[in-house]
This record gives sequence, structure tokens and C-alpha cells, in this order.
Amino acid sequence: MSNITDEIRKRRTFAIISHPDAGKTTLTEKFLLYGGAINQAGSVKGKATAKHAVSDWMEIEKERGISVTSSVLQFNYGGYCINILDTPGHQDFSEDTYRTLMAADSAVMVIDASKGVEAQTRKLFKVCVMRRIPIFTFINKMDREAMDTFELLDDIEKELGIATCPVNWPIGSGKAFRGVYDRNEKEIELFFDTKKGTTTGEVKKIALDDPQADSYMDADQKEQLLGEIELLDGASAEFDQELVSKGELSPVFFGSALTNFGVETFLQHFLKMTTSPLPRKSDKGEIDPMKEKDFSAFVFKIQANMNKAHRDRIAFMRICSGEFDAGMDAFHIQGQKKVRLSQPQQMMASERKMIEKAYGGDIIGIFDPGIFSIGDTITTSPEKFAYEGIPTFAPEHFARVRQVDTMKRKQFIKGINQIAQEGAIQIFQEFNTGMEEIIVGVVGVLQFDVLKYRLKNEYNVDIILENLPYEHIRWIENEEIDMDRLSGTSDMKKIKDLKGRPLLLFVHEWSIRMTLERNEGLKLSEFGRS
Ligand code: G4P
Repeated sequence: MSNITDEIRKRRTFAIISHPDAGKTTLTEKFLLYGGAINQAGSVKGKATAKHAVSDWMEIEKERGISVTSSVLQFNYGGYCINILDTPGHQDFSEDTYRTLMAADSAVMVIDASKGVEAQTRKLFKVCVMRRIPIFTFINKMDREAMDTFELLDDIEKELGIATCPVNWPIGSGKAFRGVYDRNEKEIELFFDTKKGTTTGEVKKIALDDPQADSYMDADQKEQLLGEIELLDGASAEFDQELVSKGELSPVFFGSALTNFGVETFLQHFLKMTTSPLPRKSDKGEIDPMKEKDFSAFVFKIQANMNKAHRDRIAFMRICSGEFDAGMDAFHIQGQKKVRLSQPQQMMASERKMIEKAYGGDIIGIFDPGIFSIGDTITTSPEKFAYEGIPTFAPEHFARVRQVDTMKRKQFIKGINQIAQEGAIQIFQEFNTGMEEIIVGVVGVLQFDVLKYRLKNEYNVDIILENLPYEHIRWIENEEIDMDRLSGTSDMKKIKDLKGRPLLLFVHEWSIRMTLERNEGLKLSEFGRS
């Protein structure tokens, strides 16, 4: 047992979130270089191979040159075993991106120093807040002209509603970038432009009060730095590990991933401040990986048809406790059946490799003969507990969907239901009619294309999608409410999910507020229960 606990204790499983182009890939790549997992930058998603690197399982990914799926990268560094959950970097991310966050114990938020908080960061951030996991901020691209540092922090605090605590502080930016001041050590880490693709840059640190420090910056910069430090020490939140662990305070670091500056410093601090695999809620109480000796895991993603010839599916699970052995038997709680966990795989950049062992904190992909659903629990524990389900995230695009050939109704219904079960899309119906009209909701519009493509390729069904103007969906929490008497706005539509639960669609965000005002006691939620 102690061996297993040791393995789990050294694991750090986190997701990197950012708006496209902020530098997530570059930062991830530098982490891997430090961990010795790759020996040349460009191996992960080098620009030349970027379009095909992580996964080319689906033709559509190849055609569009984007990665629809996300992957997991594992490497060792400084005695830690690190799992990075990569999320699709494209603007058209899907619900999978959100679900990936459910498998992480903390998140690293990468922000472009010249842009501040951007739309996609905001959305992903909300999920982290809901889970109360620690969030770390890496402000990237300091080698380019940046926004004022205080303004950047203000932006994060206001936009995301989280307090920030700068661990280091930048001296200048762009051409005048000189490095960062470490507030704890009271020394300056000097900026040298390390060539792309190497880890061995010059690392030089110098105490702020060392007379030599003056030769690295102008008198103006020094004066500004001293002023800012004073202001900061008086005004900013102090570092508080407990608040960090609760996700209420985000430690902030500055650097430049491209030039390799500040990356290792960040990694070292981050690994100390973040958490080992966290306990998770189940129907039998909290399951703590440090106490629970049996294997347990939950499915957070299902990837269909990775091999078209076999129509196979891979269920990705996050191991929450215990040790996994290839080919082991475990109990599938929702299916009420014993299952053999075969063909376990781990993703490593562009490769899938078979694995023999894995531990709490790790992510594995298991061959799925079509029995698993998102949120399912698999365990060897005689207690037979089930982990809390994964919420359904609000789609933002909606379309009415019809099959071209009405004779193919059966295949159409089967296909669309299966794809919905994998969690790529959500399907709804008109509130007062039957299954004739199907409304599809997706988080990223690309999923509409994926749906069309898959129905055609796997089920031989052509469909017509008619876009609907709605952008906001809300689940009704108090389902006992009388839907007929609900008084909404003119841009509101009543729908139901496949379990008959009522939902509301809105074109405008302000209509949600109005509807709440008009219907006393109505409770709406942005997250649904699966
Ligand atoms: P993403 O995964 O968040 O979408 O971003 P990615 O790492 O792909 O970086 C987006 C662009 O920003 C890339 O430029 C990358 O080189 C650049 N970049 C990343 N970190 C830094 C940094 O610290 N400083 C500067 N100046 N640039 C940075 P690109 O033009 O798209 O590609 P490339 O031709 O430069 O490789």
C-alpha cells in the first residue's frame, strides 16, 4: 500500500487553459523539455507538423487541420510525476474541453501580456471556479510590449473575480524587458533571450541591492520597480497557501515561454504550491486517494471510432485511487457488471502507447465495447460507490436537425443518440411535441460539422441543419414549476431533454434576468445534471 500511496503522492495532474495564441502549446513544450520527455522543441506540435500532431484519428481533423480531441502528456520532473491535460487550442473547442477540467486537480491559466483576459479563458475559468480547484496564472510574452502590470492584475481580478498574488514582478516589457523580480527572494532573475528549442539558457540571478544590478537596468526602470514593489507590498494580497488551495487566490508569474524565460521558475514554484490528487465526492462520501486502497476511476471522455475498421471507442478515465494493472477486472457501477479493463493506453504527444501500470492521478484510455457513458465509475472496491456525475455544460449554438431521406429515420435516431451519449452534442426536443423535431446544441460550432460527417460516414445518413438564433440555455432546477404558466420573453423557447426535463433557450442574455424577475421562485442553472 505505501508504495501506491507514494506513487499517488508524487502525482500532479493539471490542465492548461488559455485563449488560442496566448502560448499554451509553447509553454507545454518547454515543460516537456525540462522534464526530458522530448529533446527538441517542436516535437509536440512543432509548426511544421502542428496540424497533425496530437491526433489524427478523425478524418475531419485532418481535413480541417485542427485538433478536435485533447490529449494527456505525462513526464517526470524534480521527483514529481506530472500529467498535463491538454485542451484543444482551437476557437471551436467542444464540451470535451470543459470535461477535461473535471479530470484535473488544478489549472494553469496562460495569459498574453498584451491582451489580458480573453473570452475563452473566461469560459474555462468558470468551470475551475465551480470546482474550486487551485488556479495559477502565467503571464506570457513579456518579451513583447505588455499592458501595464497593475492593469493586467486588475483585469484578472475584475473579469474573473479571483484575487491575485504576484510571486514575481516584471521589469519592463518588449525591447525594454530586463527580467523579473522575485518578491520572496528579493532578487532579480535577469532576462536572456534563450534560443528556441533549448532548455539550457543562461540563468542569472542578482540581489536587488547588489550594485551590479544597476548595470542591467536604467535608472528609470529601477525607480519604477522600487515604487511598484512598495505599492505591491502594501496593496496586494499576501501569499496564502490555504486560499490558493481553495481556488480563491491565484499566484501570478511573468515570463516568456518562447524565449524560455521564467518557465522553469514557474514550474518549480507551481509544483510546490499545487496539489497531489484530490479526494472526490461519491455517493458513499468523499474518497481520499491517500486512504482508499482499491482502484477507482471515472470516465470523463469518450472518443469514438479511433479505428474506423473496428468501430471501437476509447473511454478516457481519470484514476482517483489505487493502482491500475493492465487487463485487470473491475466493477462498472452504472452497468452493474464486471468488466475487464483491456488495452490500456496513455497518450504521449503524438503517440499512443500501451501501459502496464497507472496510479491515482493518472489518465488512461480503455477499450470500450460501447458500455461506458460519461461520468461512469469503475472500481474494485467492495463498497461499490459511484463518483458524483459530470455536469452537462451549456451549449451556445443550436440547430434544428432533419434527415434528408425520411426512410432512414431509424439509423438517424440511433446515430444521433449514440453521438449524444458520447457527449459530443446534446439533443433536445420541442417541449410540447414528440421526437419528430430534434434540436441539437453544441458548445463549439465545429461539432455541427462533426455530427454531419459522422452521421454520413458511420450511419449513412444525410442531414440538414437549420441554425437557430438561440445562444443561451438554462436548466430549470425546480422542475415542479408549471411550464405552461411560465411567463418568459418573446425570444425565449421552451424545450426538454431526452429525460423530459424542461429547459429554456434564449437569444439574449438579458432575457434570462427578465424571465427570472417575472417568475418568482424560478431557479435556473448554467450547468445541467447528466
Ligand atoms: P496556443 O497554444 O496558446 O494557441 O499558442 P502557441 O503556443 O501556439 O503560441 C502562439 C504564437 O505565440 C506562436 O507564434 C508562438 O511562437 C508565440 N509565442 C508563444 N510564447 C511567446 C512568447 O513568450 N513571446 C513571443 N514573442 N511569442 C510567443 P506563431 O507566429 O503562431 O508561430 P511561430 O511561427 O512563431 O512558431
